[in-house]
Amino acid sequence: MEKVRIGVIGAGGMGIAHCNMIKDISEAQLTAVSDVNKDAVEKVGKDFEVKSFTDYKELIKSGLVDAVIIATPHYFHPEIAIFAMENGLHVLTEKPISVSVSQADKMISTAKKTGKIFSIVYQRRTESFIKSAIDIAKNDKLGQIHRTLCIDCWYRTQSYYNSAGWRATWKGEGGGILINQSPHTIDLFLLLGGMPKTIEGKANTKFHNIEVEDEAYALLEYENGATGYYYASTNELPEGFHIEILGEKGKLVLNTPNEIKFYSFSKDLTEFMFSADKMWDKVDVKEEKIELTDLPSGHKVIVQNFCRAILFNEPLISPGEEGIKAIEFINAVIYSGKKNKKVELPLNRKAYDKLLSQLQASSKQKTVVKETRETDPQHKKTN
Ligand SMILES: NC(=O)c1ccc[n+]([C@@H]2O[C@H](COP(=O)([O-])OP(=O)(O)OC[C@H]3O[C@@H](n4cnc5c(N)ncnc54)[C@H](O)[C@@H]3O)[C@@H](O)[C@H]2O)c1
Repeated sequence: MEKVRIGVIGAGGMGIAHCNMIKDISEAQLTAVSDVNKDAVEKVGKDFEVKSFTDYKELIKSGLVDAVIIATPHYFHPEIAIFAMENGLHVLTEKPISVSVSQADKMISTAKKTGKIFSIVYQRRTESFIKSAIDIAKNDKLGQIHRTLCIDCWYRTQSYYNSAGWRATWKGEGGGILINQSPHTIDLFLLLGGMPKTIEGKANTKFHNIEVEDEAYALLEYENGATGYYYASTNELPEGFHIEILGEKGKLVLNTPNEIKFYSFSKDLTEFMFSADKMWDKVDVKEEKIELTDLPSGHKVIVQNFCRAILFNEPLISPGEEGIKAIEFINAVIYSGKKNKKVELPLNRKAYDKLLSQLQASSKQKTVVKETRETDPQHKKTN
């Protein structure tokens, strides 16, 4: 195999962006598209000169593809991924991996059972300042973590939420800011600070006319006694995130679009509290210089890496099984808020599934005046 033959499932905003970017990836070739919307998929098939299918199962069984990229609304990611892997295809799924941890468990066990390459589009992992932050955490330059903070600001209009029937509904989307906009930032936050042991959260609908949350926040406690704070909303400008991770040996501060600061401590923070003999003694703090590279980043790098993993066994930048971590966190914040209690991780799968089916049952049918399939302009620009 010289090129990976790819089928894109879900020919909406993000799916079309994938079709476009595949043209620029030498290891990939777009060979088919699928979407439940007949007019939409026929147009995309014609535009990209590939066969179109209204049933994703037919695409998967067509013999035209070696791998699929899933860019449908979230709820379909697990069933399509599992069907594709069980039928011999490699899978790259858009984020979030799934809406619930129990579904993510099934995807991961299918990937293990079939041995297929399984990856998730966490394209932010490819950005230079984020790669540097991950290296700092991996190389234990922070030491034992004592405190974490993540503030994740987005802005969405009512018109964005009105653009498709699935958006911002429990039945169609399975959550709001947490499940749609925040998985990238939560992924990074968890890579740097680790998974909390308990979460006490709230998920509120503050301004928008939607049934899911446009604001979420949580208090976090970690196994080692560290504490953390999380906040996200689609009601704020400027957009971007702020992350702080305080460790025994240093402090990491990240701000979008690409600011990273790492302060290293001359002595271990808590040890010095007791070994220092002068009243106003402090540990020396040095801001380390971090060189950022100008290498390609974004979706295209993830798709290329996925193809290179299939062709040459290249290690995945964002393995599919790592997609479950953000869902564990997201489900816990929603569950804690709805039940008004602190929850322990890993979350009880059955309990969350029960809550989700109650929320789905409460979901109201949405009337969409003008359906719009258009991805965030930043994805069009960077790809
Ligand atoms: N990685 C990122 O930064 C990023 C950015 C935007 C969107 N996304 C993700 O991409 C996915 C799609 O989002 P979008 O903005 O393109 O939505 P969209 O509404 O523009 O497109 C979704 C498409 O999927 C089709 N569809 C629905 N059910 C289907 C099924 N069973 N089989 C085949 N097609 C089906 C719809 O008809 C629609 O054309 C979401 O999971 C979203 O979170 C990721």
